[in-house]
Amino acid sequence: MARHLITSAIPYINGIKHLGNLVGSQLPADLYARYLRGRGHEVLFLCATDEHGTPAELAAAKAGKPVEEYCAEMWEAQSKLADGFRLSFDHFGRSSSHQNRTLTQHFAKVLDEQGLIAEVSETQMYSHADGRYLPDRYIEGTCPNCGFEDARGDQCDNCTKQLDPVDLINPRSTISGSTDLEMRETKHLYLRQSQMKDRLEKWIDTREGWPVLTTSIAKKWLNDGDGLQDRGITRDLDWGVPVQKGDAPWPGMEGKVFYVWFDAPIEYIACSQEWVDAGKGADWQRWWRTDQGAEDVRYTQFMGKDNVPFHTLSFPVTILGSGEPWKLVDYIKSFNYLNYDGGQFSTSRGRGVFMDQALDILPADYWRWWLLSHAPESADSEFTWENFQISVNKDLADVLGNFASRVTKFCRSKFSEAVPEGGSYGPREEQLIADLSAKIAEYQTHMEAIEIRKAATALRAAWVLGNEYLQEVAPWSTIKTDPDQAAAQIRLALNMIRLYAVISAPFIPDACADLLTSMNAEGADWPGDIAEALNALPAGHAFTVPDVTFRKITDAEREEWQERFAGKRD
Ligand code: 2FM
Ligand code: ZN
Repeated sequence: MARHLITSAIPYINGIKHLGNLVGSQLPADLYARYLRGRGHEVLFLCATDEHGTPAELAAAKAGKPVEEYCAEMWEAQSKLADGFRLSFDHFGRSSSHQNRTLTQHFAKVLDEQGLIAEVSETQMYSHADGRYLPDRYIEGTCPNCGFEDARGDQCDNCTKQLDPVDLINPRSTISGSTDLEMRETKHLYLRQSQMKDRLEKWIDTREGWPVLTTSIAKKWLNDGDGLQDRGITRDLDWGVPVQKGDAPWPGMEGKVFYVWFDAPIEYIACSQEWVDAGKGADWQRWWRTDQGAEDVRYTQFMGKDNVPFHTLSFPVTILGSGEPWKLVDYIKSFNYLNYDGGQFSTSRGRGVFMDQALDILPADYWRWWLLSHAPESADSEFTWENFQISVNKDLADVLGNFASRVTKFCRSKFSEAVPEGGSYGPREEQLIADLSAKIAEYQTHMEAIEIRKAATALRAAWVLGNEYLQEVAPWSTIKTDPDQAAAQIRLALNMIRLYAVISAPFIPDACADLLTSMNAEGADWPGDIAEALNALPAGHAFTVPDVTFRKITDAEREEWQERFAGKRD
């Protein structure tokens, strides 16, 4: 038994996430957490909302709400959807927590003490009417290149030219519309990542067995172009962690906040403090401080590929650079993108299926199965309604659901609602047990390695073995000539339902919980020896016929959904 710390990249607060976001971090992290708990390990699984930065401020303004209120509401919404998808976080925190504020300010202080923070003077647009410096996205004006009147300070949406706010003709503040702007000198803090290049490189080079996607992105940023750049870690925003050295003011930094990507990963640690403060845990240090027991922890992070540079470079600079005994990540599982029906998911255009919409049309397990069995691991993958329909109807309804339903109904009609007595297992049953043992061993190997698609393939193959057995031995025929043998076949099949429910639970937890209830076997342990597990329900053990485990998706539904989610969401 080991201790596993698992974090999922923390989703931005602004808006409901789509299925591409879900499969890129939270869902696979949940799969792994559930699997490890199933195997008896101690797990701390954390996620949170990423609440700071310009996108949060802009989204709140669009919603016409104070940013605190907007974030609190969106946290509720995201938390409810996480429950809906059965994401089994031990705690779902908030990067705007006071714990994260304190810890972020602490890290800034110790990094400064280690000589890893530089104060840099820059000129930046100041708005007299708003009484603040304006980040690029808060300035609009006429594009000097194409004359488009609503070009943003960082880029013109019309001709795509990258801009600097000073390039804009007639610049104005998007907050007040004021044109009373001037370029002023201001100071910002930079994290001196370049100082840490060698240490980081050594650390990355010694990570064994990391996914190629993770290490290739890290290496690219370490070595491309000018190498690892120093990074501005402060912004002129109202909303964020105020820049302080611990609890002391930082002269010259009044009114500034830390950049969202500086405080977001620190929330992984702060979230464990929130978990303790919420009364759910006793001790966060044993998960995070290597001087207080965390050297025994295996820490795995899950994220989309766009997040990899921040987790392989910036956050490790924070951790290593602090000179304090914080736990570093042991394994980074990263994902490519999931595309949607011939294009990309798009939050701004409302293209694709969003988490709330998905749960409105089908239960979580349907989505979990498809998304995980098609996880974009080695390349981008694509959601199509045809593929979704085939997967659900075949894997879930025809193979697993139908097996459970046929076996239990047959038993109820020919014997009773109890595991039948009589007969014994012969060579065909021995063969099935051997095949299942091998397939489940393979499944476990893939789960340990977080090879999700391969694990799903092995699991599906284990379900298929049961179906093939049933088809071949045909108890509905056997019973006419040899009722004892039919009883043995059904006894084995009923035990298989229990076994499937235990091992499939990380993928499809609700269906498996229902199956275990039907089999009167709640709390069943992960199987060790498969032959033994297939004897767990003895003759006479009562069960009930489960309700339909998985229903099929009709062609009409598929067409309707395809149409409904192609376009604009309000
Ligand atoms: O890409 C995103 O959704 C970011 N909010 C992820 C942050 S992960 C971490 F560093 F906190
Ligand atoms: Zn332009």
